[in-house]
Formats: sequence, C-alpha cells, structure tokens
Amino acid sequence: MSGDQMRAARFHEYGAPDVLVVDQVPRPEPKEGEVLIRVHAAGVNPIDWKLRAGYLKEFMPVQLPYTPGYDLAGTVERVGPGVTEFTPGQAVFGRGMGAYAEYAMAPATALAPKPDNTSFDEATTIAIGGVTAWAGLFDAANLQAGQRLLVQGAAGGTGSYAVQLGNWKGAYVIGTASSGNVEFVRSLGANEIVDYTTTAVEEAVSGVDVVLDTVGGEVMDRSWSLLQPNGILVEVAGMPDEEAARQRGVRTSGVQAPPEISGILRQLAALIQSGAVKTEVGAAFPLDQAAQAHALSETGHGRGRIVLHIAD
Ligand SMILES: NC(=O)c1ccc[n+]([C@@H]2O[C@H](COP(=O)([O-])OP(=O)(O)OC[C@H]3O[C@@H](n4cnc5c(N)ncnc54)[C@H](OP(=O)(O)O)[C@@H]3O)[C@@H](O)[C@H]2O)c1
Repeated sequence: MSGDQMRAARFHEYGAPDVLVVDQVPRPEPKEGEVLIRVHAAGVNPIDWKLRAGYLKEFMPVQLPYTPGYDLAGTVERVGPGVTEFTPGQAVFGRGMGAYAEYAMAPATALAPKPDNTSFDEATTIAIGGVTAWAGLFDAANLQAGQRLLVQGAAGGTGSYAVQLGNWKGAYVIGTASSGNVEFVRSLGANEIVDYTTTAVEEAVSGVDVVLDTVGGEVMDRSWSLLQPNGILVEVAGMPDEEAARQRGVRTSGVQAPPEISGILRQLAALIQSGAVKTEVGAAFPLDQAAQAHALSETGHGRGRIVLHIAD
C-alpha cells in the first residue's frame, strides 16, 4: 500500500450491514486545529448503523461514500496548524470523524491523553458513552449527591458510564438490565438493579429524581410515572416530549454534548485512571467485520461498547 493510502470501512449506499465494505482511500490531511490519528480502535455506536441504514437521512444526510465512526483511540500521527497540546506518537482517545479506518481526523478539542491503565480497545469506549452520560447527568439534570437516579439500559455503552458517574457523584443509583447483565450492573456500583425481563419497572421503582433513558420508545413512555414531582427525564435515545412532561408536572431534556469535550474527556480519564470508573468492551471485531459488528449492535442488547480492533 502506498504511504498516503489507508483501509477504511465505508458504505456507498444506505442499506443493511453488508453495504459496509473495506476500500483503499487517501489518508486525510489535518487542517487547522485538527489531529491525524493512527486508529488502533474505533467504537461502534448505534448512530453509526442508524446513519448506514438511512434512518437519519432526512435531517442528518451524509455524503456517500461515507466512513462511519466517532469514537476512536490511537496514536497521534500528525498535528495540524495551531495544535500545541498533542505531539506525534502520543496515545489519545476521543471523538473523531470516519474512525472505521486506519487513520482518522479529530479536532484537538475533542481529544485527551489515553489513561495508562486502559488498552486502545477499552479507551475507545469512553468518548461517546462517557460524555453523553456526563452531559445528561450533570448538565441536563444537575444531578446531586443523595438524589435517586434511574438509568434505563444500565448495561449499555452509555448506561454503564451513567451508573458509574451517578455512583461517583453520590446519588442512589437504580439500573434496569436483562437477567444476564444484572451482576455486571451491580459491579458498576448500582444500589438496585431491576431485571426488566422478570419485573415491571413500575412495581420496583418510584420517587426518582432523575431518569436517564437510553432505550426510548415504550421504556421512555413508562418512565414518567417513576419520577417524583419536578423530577426530570433525560432522554438519550429519543426526542424529549415536553408536552408529556408538562402534563405530569415533571421536566424533560435531551442531551447535547458540547462541541469542545476535551475537558470532560480529561475528567473521565482521571476517574478511569484512579479506578473509580471502569470501561467495558462488549465484543471486538476486526475492521473487515464491521458489518458483523453493526448487526450485533442493532440487536439493542449487550454489555458495554462493541469495538473495532484496527491495529495492535
Ligand atoms: N443523544 C445523544 O447524544 C446520544 C449519545 C449516545 C447514544 N445515543 C442513543 O442512545 C441509545 C443507546 O445507546 P448506547 O450506545 O448506550 O446503546 P447500547 O450500547 O447498544 O446499549 C443499549 C442497552 O439497552 C439495554 N436494553 C435494551 N432494551 C432494554 C429495556 N427494555 N430495558 C432496559 N434496558 C434495555 C441493553 O441491555 P440488555 O442487553 O440488558 O437488554 C443494552 O445494554 C441509542 O439509541 C443511541 O443512538 C444518543
């Protein structure tokens, strides 16, 4: 392969997982404020397959062919003009663009040094799930110590960070998960776990200050009655329903990660380095099995984050 080429998993048309193919493409060049990363691992997020399937094409169209992937971890290959905080060879993680590739670009403002006690596969689980949980709990809900927090989808790539961050903040954390994930969610520090396959959440949970919902649909609809008056439903998986909230005397919010996230990433990295927060890789696939990784993510069940292991 010539020096300016790389392998990238991308799709030329919207469709089923098998539209993802590995192509030889030119390596990107870092522009002002950007960092070129040699990608060791990319996270597989539900938004990646929602984009691939065309579910979001009305309001989030992509230019085809498109290389998915926001979550990445790797080493700095080159920095663009104006980037002073990262140097070539440094191990980093964060939120980039086109991460399903041997090289990808990220703004310096969306990167942080990789915690030493994580592998690249583990570090690529942090940025989207961790920052979404952080923004949902601390920016949208202003979660306080002693409050009751319910995390719907507590075992997932976002929920697993939400449980741990709620626990770290000093909240009383309740998580929902299927039977096989109950002990995993307990190991994250949840005070109570509801196995949603055997117990209706309404029978087990009430008087919650904050619900962080990562499942959506019926799970969102059934979350309202669990809140105490003026509690808040932070909706990660769907659109927050302001009218439903008003009728019930509670509040709701979506989650908007800020454009510059390196400060949050550095705080998450410090929590991981100290052992207060841990990462979970649900499954790892090579780049040329990106389609299989998408098919697994699309089941909507699993533990932690699915990753693409791209380089050792
Ligand atoms: N707004 C944003 O910025 C943003 C950011 C990140 C993610 N999201 C969205 O949030 C959603 C979740 O993302 P993710 O990355 O966390 O997904 P994920 O890693 O696939 O996790 C989904 C989790 O949901 C659990 N689950 C499924 N059905 C459930 C139910 N009925 N009750 C409780 N738990 C249930 C699964 O656990 P079991 O195996 O135990 O069922 C699984 O662990 C996606 O729709 C994604 O697009 C939005």
